[in-house]
Amino acid sequence: MDYAATLEDALARIAAVQDLGALEGLRVEFLGKQGSISGLLKTLGAMSAEQRQTTGPQIHALREGVTAALAERKAALESAALEARLASETIDLTLPAPAAPRGSVHPVSQVMDELAEIFADMGFAVATGPEIEDDWHNFTALNIPESHPARAMHDTFYFPDKDAEGRAMLLRTHTSPVQIRAMLDVVKQDPGGAPIRIIAPGRVYRSDSDATHTPMFHQVEGLVIDKGIHLGHLKWTLETFLKAFFERDDIVLRLRPSYFPFTEPSVEVDVGFAIVNGKRVLGGSGDAPGHGWMELLGSGMVNRKVIAAGGLDPDEWQGFAFGAGIDRLAMLKYGMDDLRAFFDGDVRWNAHYGFNPNDVPTLSGGVGTAA
Ligand code: DAH
Repeated sequence: MDYAATLEDALARIAAVQDLGALEGLRVEFLGKQGSISGLLKTLGAMSAEQRQTTGPQIHALREGVTAALAERKAALESAALEARLASETIDLTLPAPAAPRGSVHPVSQVMDELAEIFADMGFAVATGPEIEDDWHNFTALNIPESHPARAMHDTFYFPDKDAEGRAMLLRTHTSPVQIRAMLDVVKQDPGGAPIRIIAPGRVYRSDSDATHTPMFHQVEGLVIDKGIHLGHLKWTLETFLKAFFERDDIVLRLRPSYFPFTEPSVEVDVGFAIVNGKRVLGGSGDAPGHGWMELLGSGMVNRKVIAAGGLDPDEWQGFAFGAGIDRLAMLKYGMDDLRAFFDGDVRWNAHYGFNPNDVPTLSGGVGTAA
């Protein structure tokens, strides 16, 4: 057999191969278990010692030559593939940025980002819940039983069918059911309970529509559960939040006794404003001459029944909660006066009231730099 010619032939075929798959095919053909060169190596055993002495080195040289050529071709094909990828995936970093960013962030999204930033600094996580809720989470667990007048007051959108557990399904009328879900989630992980600090911004729905009400609007819920929590913690948290949100140190709050089924005691939180050039400007005590109080949000100490519905022991765990309208917070801060325009989808409105997407709200850089 002419081993030199066999080697030459193999090398020519290896050199001609254009892709890694075909190269692997050749490797198997020559050096695989059933490969032609592997077959030659096996013939050594049957040879006489003399024959082996002359033929052996030739077969080994053939194998080594083919092995080296395969490795070399493989490296060449791989680096060619890498070069091709680098050439096709170029990014021209010298291209200028667009003169102005296209599109703008809706004020509702902006305010949600600001809320997340401000509350994250106080150790709150952002929680979410489904917009399609059941009446247990939306009402019953929040101490609003079937016969409770608050159910009628919520102008609820119901679905025609009940869920698998026989619960009526609805579009959530407030973000408060996220309180229940947050507590149940914690209990699932830690049956004894654990402290909770969350805000839950999101869409809510009520069958109501006029200049100040839209069937879909936005709320943010806040929930703190821990040991020894009292109204002072609630007031400090809301004051700190509102000062950061409105970027004024002179925000003054007034807590007014109120009623919500899910809190006891319940307080309505008013914020003081002054009238400057005929406009309401937040800040200062509402009792000062020329000043007034504006109702801003609802809150209170979480009702024991609600803590129990969340799977926690109300003798051990206390907390406070609050709920505020995000659209209203946005209108107050950024000076829009018609709620309906929020949901018209008019790009001119958004271009005017929207925010630069590159300006991410940060506490250090300002949470509400106007566009
Ligand atoms: N869920 C109430 C609503 O939609 C708002 C609210 C009031 C939420 C008091 C709370 C709270 O968490 O403590 O009108």
